[in-house]
Amino acid sequence: MEQWIEQLRKERDLPDEILIRLIARQGTDDVLFQAADAVRREHYGTDVFLRGLIEFTNICRNDCYYCGIRKSNRNTERYRLTEDEILACCDNGYAMGFRTFVLQGGEDPHNTDAVLCSIVDRIKTRFPDCAVTLSVGERSRSSYQALFDAGTDRYLLRHETATDAHYRKLHPTELHLENRKRCLYDLKEIGFQVGAGFMVGSPGQTERELVADLRFLQQLQPDMIGIGPFIPHHETPFAAERPGTLELTLRMLAILRLMFPYVLLPATTALGTISPIGRELGLKAGANVMMPNLTPNHARKQYDLYDNKICMDEEAGKCKLCQENRVRAVGYCVVCDRGDVRR
Ligand code: 5AD
Ligand code: FES
Repeated sequence: MEQWIEQLRKERDLPDEILIRLIARQGTDDVLFQAADAVRREHYGTDVFLRGLIEFTNICRNDCYYCGIRKSNRNTERYRLTEDEILACCDNGYAMGFRTFVLQGGEDPHNTDAVLCSIVDRIKTRFPDCAVTLSVGERSRSSYQALFDAGTDRYLLRHETATDAHYRKLHPTELHLENRKRCLYDLKEIGFQVGAGFMVGSPGQTERELVADLRFLQQLQPDMIGIGPFIPHHETPFAAERPGTLELTLRMLAILRLMFPYVLLPATTALGTISPIGRELGLKAGANVMMPNLTPNHARKQYDLYDNKICMDEEAGKCKLCQENRVRAVGYCVVCDRGDVRR
């Protein structure tokens, strides 16, 4: 396998059948992780960027089969932070050194363009040296344009899986992969720094789907790629499904780093949830972003996308310190910076 890893590093690509073998390989992955870490160091040194995550609404009109805040889950208390509460999170985050704020939420019908533009405008006016990232799902092109014009720098929208057949297994009939891809291309054309991504080990996923994810990302050429293991949530149709594994997620992170050397690649909360050292191992396999949670504690508990999510009781300052320590412990360095992509 070593020569294939070397080829992947040099050419940023491999034939489908070889990728499938690399993805499926069990056992030690040290060569793969070391190659990914070397590439990450060429582009980003030991820098790790922090994003302050604000989960500002768990109200969602969608009903994705995997997601704990799907609208059919009647056993979760719904919340929506006010504009002032969001600004207070940013004040707190700015004082702690964050220079990117990620506003993530369900597809809450309350979030009209006017509502979101007002929030973004207030954050950008108060913190002109910060980047604002939105992650609020599928919208029209004109809506994305309005959000961009209001000053939004980046947009995260995971494609979740890149094949139609598999997309159908994860989503109700109202949702379409085609529309999701349309959104991502619109966002890129408008000028956002764009993030796509997928869950690892979601029900029905095989190595073929993962290769399709890589091929889609090659076409899109996003600035950010968010991946994490699928983790079942007890109030969803996937309650009894098996979670994605640590090993496969790490392998996918490393392959992504080799195929997209410049990309911003987070070691996600889901990765930290399936293993106590998941995020540290993620950093060593090529990840270069961490996202401490700035959401107020009362709301945080209700943003339960999957079971046993970590950091539910830690307040923001503690979560940041904890993550900084974890980054340092594996030999990297947190930088206080917007952390834009280095293409
Ligand atoms: N397990 C892991 N990740 C999940 N997400 C949603 N539900 C789950 C789950 N059960 C991820 C999706 C979404 C992101 C915000 O969280 O990929 O895009
Ligand atoms: Fe949130 Fe450790 S990262 S408490």
